[in-house]
Amino acid sequence: MKFVIVMLVLSLSMFAQDREREELKKVMNSFASAMELIQHGILHNNIDEMNKGAKMLRTDDESFLESHGKALIRHMPENPEFAKAYAKRTGEKIRSYADSLDEQIGNRTKSYSKISATYTHILHECVGCHQKIRKR
Ligand code: HEC
Repeated sequence: MKFVIVMLVLSLSMFAQDREREELKKVMNSFASAMELIQHGILHNNIDEMNKGAKMLRTDDESFLESHGKALIRHMPENPEFAKAYAKRTGEKIRSYADSLDEQIGNRTKSYSKISATYTHILHECVGCHQKIRKR
């Protein structure tokens, strides 16, 4: 009986872990689509695509990376505090760059070099976290 309960608890917690991971991956894939749209917009002078991409970078949940903390920490169990703090900081940076993108896209002069520089800053944040925290 004890064995059955232990197995049940174990499989429930594995199920919860899978769900958290899938949710994090959903956010990540939406980020990736946003970045593709922005890049396509830059290369095709398409303001609508850039706007749509910048909007997609903001999730409804202001602290999206922190709220996926459990799934993130699993990539860095040896230093969970660092993982959380890093996720918080990167989340804030990505949001602030998304604000800059809005401003630059809305600006009359439409400086594509400024817009693409901001795009590159965002990409650095993505890659930075993948290199530091993502383990697979
Ligand atoms: C704070 C850390 C962090 C930041 C910032 C971050 N990622 Fe990720 N990303 C991860 C982790 C961790 C995974 C691995 C998720 C897993 O498979 O468990 C991941 C996975 C992914 C994947 C693969 C998803 C899949 O279905 O396997 C894509 C695509 C991705 N990220 C895109 C992005 C983009 C684009 C950005 C920037 C706009 C970004 N990420 C920013 C941590 C981050």
